[in-house]
Amino acid sequence: MRVFVTGATGFAGGHLVSQLLEAGHTVYGLIRPSEEGQAWPFQPLVGDLLDAASLQTAVLAAQPDVIYHLAGQADVGASWRQPALTLALNAGGTANLLAAVVSAELRPRIITVTSAELYGPLPIEAMPINGWSQPNPVHPYAISKLAASQLAQMYRTRFELDVIEARPFNHIGPGQMLGFVVPDFASQIMAIQQGRKTPHMVVGNLAAERDFTDVRDVVRAYQLLAEHGRPGTPYLICSGHPVSIRHILDLLIELAGVEVEIATDPARMRPSDTPCLYGSYDKLRHDTGWQPQIPLRQSLADVLSSYQP
Ligand code: GDD
Repeated sequence: MRVFVTGATGFAGGHLVSQLLEAGHTVYGLIRPSEEGQAWPFQPLVGDLLDAASLQTAVLAAQPDVIYHLAGQADVGASWRQPALTLALNAGGTANLLAAVVSAELRPRIITVTSAELYGPLPIEAMPINGWSQPNPVHPYAISKLAASQLAQMYRTRFELDVIEARPFNHIGPGQMLGFVVPDFASQIMAIQQGRKTPHMVVGNLAAERDFTDVRDVVRAYQLLAEHGRPGTPYLICSGHPVSIRHILDLLIELAGVEVEIATDPARMRPSDTPCLYGSYDKLRHDTGWQPQIPLRQSLADVLSSYQP
């Protein structure tokens, strides 16, 4: 099959590309002009989410059976610093891509990735989040993903595009950039373990609870959705249980075998942070048979190993 991946050079995109190549697909990936000239494992197509014409050219070149739309601004903290850019990339980029597919007169299956963050703070009785839960976005990133979700739904009904929305919760694993909690903690812990840093680390809000899934399980879900998903309500991708950020920190420290002093960094505290988010993956399991396979401890150990010299 011919597949086109936006975000192919990113964290989840990199894992997805490896999996698709292993499965024997012909993989085209969107790259930015600044990434031209580098060696990529997929066939690179230059384009920009903010430039609809470049997306149409890329889509026409790829002639894909499936599009995985992962590209965007994924950092919730950064969305406070760059709200308009976050909206432009996540909502505008999704609109540009879907419009490009319509203009190209192609009808691939499209897996578009939004986020559980669009639910925002829900009362604990409303957990686990499921297909009926109501969005309550409280930061620019969540609003951008809610808009992307609604755009996908609108293009599906108005233009009969075969769009399936994947709505993942937090995903972790090797290759994630700084700016997300696990790499932010693991990079400091490993610098301490390797003697490159004094045993002091800074953290943000440890009271928040999130639902963590290994990125390799998440991209397996994307591929299963391309094969077996049904357009309609979004598919939640999650583990089904909440874990506090404090617990993530404790596990990383235990796995690395270090002793550290912890201080709160006000710069890491957000103007508004969803206190608790966890979901149910019942619909995904029902339609595709998916369930998470990689335990949290394993994911965290693999992240720590990725910081070994
Ligand atoms: N990034 C970061 N760095 N977060 C910290 C830190 C720190 O040093 N200390 C505590 N936290 C807290 C954040 O305040 C938040 O409550 C939690 O750890 C998780 O933060 P992130 O890893 O930045 O992820 P997120 O939950 O805001 O969003 C992630 O999950 C969404 C899906 O639920 C991202 O991966 C999004 O792209 C994704 O859509």
